[in-house]
Amino acid sequence: MPLSNSGVLRVLHMDSSARSGISGRDRHGSHTRRLSSRFIDRWSAARPHDAITYRDVGTAPPTPVSEAWIAAAFCPPGRRTDAQKGLLAESDRLAAELVAADLIVVGAPMYNFGLPAQLKAWIDNVVRVGVTFGFDRARPGEPYWPMLASGKRLVILTARGDYGYDAGGRLAAMNLVEQGLKVPLAYLGIK
Ligand SMILES: Cc1cc2nc3c(=O)[nH]c(=O)nc-3n(C[C@H](O)[C@H](O)[C@H](O)COP(=O)(O)O)c2cc1C
Repeated sequence: MPLSNSGVLRVLHMDSSARSGISGRDRHGSHTRRLSSRFIDRWSAARPHDAITYRDVGTAPPTPVSEAWIAAAFCPPGRRTDAQKGLLAESDRLAAELVAADLIVVGAPMYNFGLPAQLKAWIDNVVRVGVTFGFDRARPGEPYWPMLASGKRLVILTARGDYGYDAGGRLAAMNLVEQGLKVPLAYLGIK
């Protein structure tokens, strides 16, 4: 569904800074939390009927994927044990939030040139075979395909300490933040 001015949109608001405060309000507060909350405040003022879901992976990081998680995720759903279903429960919840969202707004700080580990852990939990992307080795051409509805949009609100990371800047080649989010989410069908 393309984003439009009519109808109710479902917005997934995410933060991933390890800093829990908000800059300008709290001492040592997070700039990306300030940016994302301003974006959502203004969005809600303009579109009060849209549904906002909040997910804070900065202060409540998803569990990193493990060997047992991988075995469970790649096991056909009908053959999963109760233990495997339990292992995937958190990932199921996170993926369902993404599947339901029309617009995903992510506060994403730069940590050591890339994404915070807690945001990468979220990516690893929502990139799920049979849920958000399809895979069939026998499929002619490309064995992978995106499963999320086209028309979803991603907004990245980032902050970093240094300057020169934008295209053409002195550190542009070292900036892995936007690509770190755009590439895996585009793989699922999100622009
Ligand atoms: C662990 C860590 C790693 C960082 N790595 C970088 C970096 O590689 N380049 C940079 O310009 N700033 C870096 N910074 C600075 C942050 O990107 C900057 O403080 C940003 O505002 C953090 O987002 P936040 O304000 O939402 O917490 C780093 C900060 C931390 C805490």
